[in-house]
Amino acid sequence: MPAKLVLGISGNIIRPSKTLTFVDHIAGQIAFRSGGVSRTFDIQDLGTSLGQARQLNELEPSARDLVELIAAADVLVVGSPTYKGSYTGLFKHFLDLLDPAALRGKPVILAATGGGERHSLIVEHQLRPLFGFFEALTMPTAIYATAKDFAEGVLVSETIQARAQQAVIEACRAIGATENVSLAA
Ligand SMILES: Cc1cc2nc3c(=O)[nH]c(=O)nc-3n(C[C@H](O)[C@H](O)[C@H](O)COP(=O)(O)O)c2cc1C
Repeated sequence: MPAKLVLGISGNIIRPSKTLTFVDHIAGQIAFRSGGVSRTFDIQDLGTSLGQARQLNELEPSARDLVELIAAADVLVVGSPTYKGSYTGLFKHFLDLLDPAALRGKPVILAATGGGERHSLIVEHQLRPLFGFFEALTMPTAIYATAKDFAEGVLVSETIQARAQQAVIEACRAIGATENVSLAA
């Protein structure tokens, strides 16, 4: 059986990025538990053509390769920094280019970061309906972190790590990769 492909997609438009680190951490955990491989990209990886593109074939080739990876992925981990109470505009613009059926049935973990706790429901009120539109299989546990959960760009909060593990377990179950999975206490 081929190794599972776990793809992280981060909506950050600035680097360094806590969101990119966060998404990559979760994607890496799924790969570790499922014996798969993970890869994470962000808006910068999509290149300068993204802002101008009105359809997929107007993206530069490297960005189109990333769209192919989305189709091939067994699991997606999507995350965005909170901008004005929602995901970033360029993240939404990228998703607007995808075929509406592109994510149908795809297991997806939802994650976000923000400057404070106030907008923590971005994962439920913004990201979940968006991926509902795509008929993706969103995992029940969504994860939100703030600056205080990171130290020097690394996720250090044990509470958030535990919540991320819960989502990781759900994703592993969704792809039938339960061998190395035990329920978090
Ligand atoms: C333009 C802009 C708008 C923002 N709006 C919000 C907001 O509405 N709510 C919030 O909690 N944080 C907001 N923030 C803070 C970011 O969400 C937060 O710093 C985030 O973790 C940054 O992620 P990054 O390190 O991946 O760039 C905003 C930041 C920027 C630059």
